[in-house]
Amino acid sequence: MDLGIDGDTAIVTASSAGLGRASAEALADEGANVVICGRDPARLEATEAALSDLAGDVVGVETDITSKKEIEALVEATVDEFGGVDHVVTSAGGVPPGGFTDLTEKEWYGAFDMLVMSAVWTVKAARPHLDASDAGTITCITSTTVREVVDDLILSNAVRRGVIGLVKSLSRELAPSVRVNAVLPGAHETSRIEELVEAAVERGDHDTYEEGLAAWSDEIPLNRVGDPRELGDVVAFLASDRASFVTGACVPVDGGRLRSD
Ligand SMILES: NC(=O)c1ccc[n+]([C@@H]2O[C@H](COP(=O)([O-])OP(=O)(O)OC[C@H]3O[C@@H](n4cnc5c(N)ncnc54)[C@H](OP(=O)(O)O)[C@@H]3O)[C@@H](O)[C@H]2O)c1
Repeated sequence: MDLGIDGDTAIVTASSAGLGRASAEALADEGANVVICGRDPARLEATEAALSDLAGDVVGVETDITSKKEIEALVEATVDEFGGVDHVVTSAGGVPPGGFTDLTEKEWYGAFDMLVMSAVWTVKAARPHLDASDAGTITCITSTTVREVVDDLILSNAVRRGVIGLVKSLSRELAPSVRVNAVLPGAHETSRIEELVEAAVERGDHDTYEEGLAAWSDEIPLNRVGDPRELGDVVAFLASDRASFVTGACVPVDGGRLRSD
């Protein structure tokens, strides 16, 4: 299926690894030019090199997405490089695991900046360019925690729901020129899942890493954690012309783990 995004320009935040990187790869595979970002310049450079043979160009811009100024510079660099912005995909870093009693007020505010304000700042800075595009889309990578809470992930459970409110509101406010959707990843094999499994082993929930990973798979009807690219392909589809009547949707990509509809 031709997604019709060849030659478009996309920004994917927090994308030198994991789900952001897989989304950038899927978009560039379809011919979109993609700007990726992250804080660690070496990792960013390695990812830029690894994605250099795809149909679209991939360019890395060192950015901390908890800084409004750096996000504005990221959007400016994208426009300088490729002349506009057609697609925004927001991913983010992970927020600390833990329950209500474990977390400090600083961590709550930090999670809000990381998950919600980073998306707000990116959309604000990119908005004039999305409006000028004839194919403008925003796709926010969130989590299945917005539908069903996961124990010991209270920051993700509580704060990410703000992103869904943002997506649903923007899908109405920016229509008809910009489509806005969210994807809800379940467990995908990235360093974030490694971190969560290691934390569960440390808490004594499992004896070994392998047992902890198997516990995630046991909860999933497809009986495995996802490949990050299985999320990236859905992101590329939602950004594309093939999804031209889809806006305001929150699409789980979780191997069937959510029990709610
Ligand atoms: N993997 C899953 O199964 C899963 C499921 C549900 C939700 N999620 C959520 O989806 C998001 C992405 O997860 P992931 O698995 O892709 O994580 P990951 O593999 O750890 O990758 C995170 C990426 O974000 C970048 N990043 C982190 N903090 C950043 C910051 N302040 N500014 C700019 N870039 C930053 C990292 O690069 P630098 O460290 O160099 O900045 C890296 O490129 C997270 O919020 C995670 O909680 C993941």
